[in-house]
Formats: sequence, structure tokens, C-alpha cells
Amino acid sequence: MTQNVQAVEAAIDSALKAIADASDLDQLKQVKIEHVGDKSEIAKASQSLGKMAPEERAEFGKVVGAAKGRVNAAYEARLIELERERDERVLVEERVDVTLPVKKVSAGGLHPLTVLTNEISDLFIGLGYRVAEGPEMESEWLNFDALNIPADHPARTMQDTFFVEPLSAKLVMRTHTSPVQIRTMLESQPPIYVICPGRTYRADELDATHTPVFSQVEGLVIDRGITMADLKGTLDHFAQAMFGPDVKTRLRPSFFPFTEPSAEVDFFFNGRWVEWGGCGMVNQKVLRAAGIDTDEFSGFAFGMGLERTLMVRHGITDMHDIVEGDIRFTQQFGMGA
Ligand code: PHE
Repeated sequence: MTQNVQAVEAAIDSALKAIADASDLDQLKQVKIEHVGDKSEIAKASQSLGKMAPEERAEFGKVVGAAKGRVNAAYEARLIELERERDERVLVEERVDVTLPVKKVSAGGLHPLTVLTNEISDLFIGLGYRVAEGPEMESEWLNFDALNIPADHPARTMQDTFFVEPLSAKLVMRTHTSPVQIRTMLESQPPIYVICPGRTYRADELDATHTPVFSQVEGLVIDRGITMADLKGTLDHFAQAMFGPDVKTRLRPSFFPFTEPSAEVDFFFNGRWVEWGGCGMVNQKVLRAAGIDTDEFSGFAFGMGLERTLMVRHGITDMHDIVEGDIRFTQQFGMGA
């Protein structure tokens, strides 16, 4: 009995010493396993109670109970202490000095033309259109022939078109986004509602109002019962989204080989009429060449320059600003989405 009591007291001493010596939470966890948990001396003493005679058990039980109480209390107290120390240390070690100077990283932004393209795409997607794409290097056939532009048409000559060598490959840098009309009609069945924003090329010098690499957005609708009124309504909606709810549009008779009738669309902005783009009812020859039944379907198409749209809308007077990529220009348009 005395021997047992002495063993428990020795166990208490070494447990209390180990608890006091534990200098961090990891060590304390180890100490708990050895001195407090099921495998500790005190736990073993507790287990031995079962085999003892009743009076002996009552007496030794008190000793063991008191031992558990002391060790547990010491353990809990040390745990709280070490947790507080850890919290204090973390506060110091992970402290962030918000007054330190930082390396300035300026965030990139989308080019205004990209922002505009996204805006136009969102607008037309909202009307149920799909965004179609085509290659910038295009077959001469899709860029011209399929659009009913004859071989002797002035637009085909060297002055306007960038031809790609070898000439025998019959490839050009597309002069407009209209070849995407043909691609779309060949690939899909009406009803068709697409817009195609994209880069286009013409052999112009870069000056205040021209750039050899520019951007257009093409629209194409083929469905039953489509008329010029649908075209006008769509252009009005588009213009209002671009230039404000009060903007007016007008159609002037014009000619494009791939639309009949054809028109130029202008809009009235800041007191003057501005030429915006071309449009018209898709020429029946073009529809038939694409395998579309012209008794059942009709359609309209339009195409306008994005640089022009951007310049008028934002009062940009020099094309150089749009093409040169000076970040001081781009930043004025914000980040863009
Ligand atoms: N592709 C024509 C151009 O670049 C514009 C246009 C598109 C005209 C669609 C009519 C219909 O000038």
C-alpha cells in the first residue's frame, strides 16, 4: 500500500515536472500522452484499483483521484499559459506593418478596342445573337468571290488589299469581316443571328483617321420574313447602346455587291452626321450560293468600323492614340472588364 502511494507520488512529481518543463504546445502534447493519458503511471494505478480489496480500494482511490486532479489541473493551467504565449508570438511574428512602402505594381488593363468589342458582343448576345469568328488571313474566294465581288472590282487591286505570297495560294488579309457571313452560312442552317467582331486589313497609310490594321463588327441575320425594317430597328438599338438613347440613325442608298438593296448607315451625334458603316439586305445571289432557300428566307447584314465608333464616342481625334499602345491613353478608359 505505502509502496503504491509512494509510486503515485513519484508519478505526480515527474508529471508536474514534465508539465512545467514543456516549453511549447508540441512538447506539452507529448507530456500529456506520457503523464496524463491512459498509458501514464497514474492511469495504471487507477486501473489497479479494480483488483484491490474494498477498504484498500477506498483509501487508494482517494490518493489516485487526488493525483489525477493535481496533474490535470497543472496540465490545464500549462496549456492555457502555452496557448497564450503562442498567440502572443504569432501576433508578433505575423505582424504586418501596413506603413511600409510597397513595390508599386500597376495592374494591366484591356485595350479600349477590346473593351468596346466585349461591350458590343454582350449587347448582341443579349438579343440572342452568337459571336462568330473567322481567320484574319482569308481565302480570296471567301473575301471576294463568294460575296459577289467580281475579279475586276477595284477593292481587289493591289492598292487596297494585302495579298499573301505566294500569290498562287490565293490568300489575302481579309479586307472586311464579311467573309465570316459566308463561313457562317456554309456552316449553319437558318435561322442565323451572328455578329463577328474582328481585325481587318487594308493598304492604307497610318494617319489621323486611317490605319492599315483596323477592326470591324459584322452582323448577319437570316430568318423568315426579315425586312429592311428589322435592319433599321437593330441599327437604332445598336447606335443607342453605343452613343446614348437620343442618337438618331439614317440610311443612305449605297452599293455593295453582297447586299441588295444596300445602304450606308450614319448617326447624328454632337450636332453632325457621322458615317458609321455599310448595310443592306443580303443579296439573294449570295444566299443561293450558300445553299439557302430564298423563297423561305431573307436576311440583312451590316458592318462598321470599331475605331470610328470609339473615336466618335470618346472624342478621340488621332488614330495614332488607338494603335500606338501608349498606356497613358489606355488608362483613361479604366481597367475594362
Ligand atoms: N463589308 C463592308 C465594308 O467593309 C461593310 C458591309 C457589311 C456592308 C455588311 C454591307 C453589309 O465596307
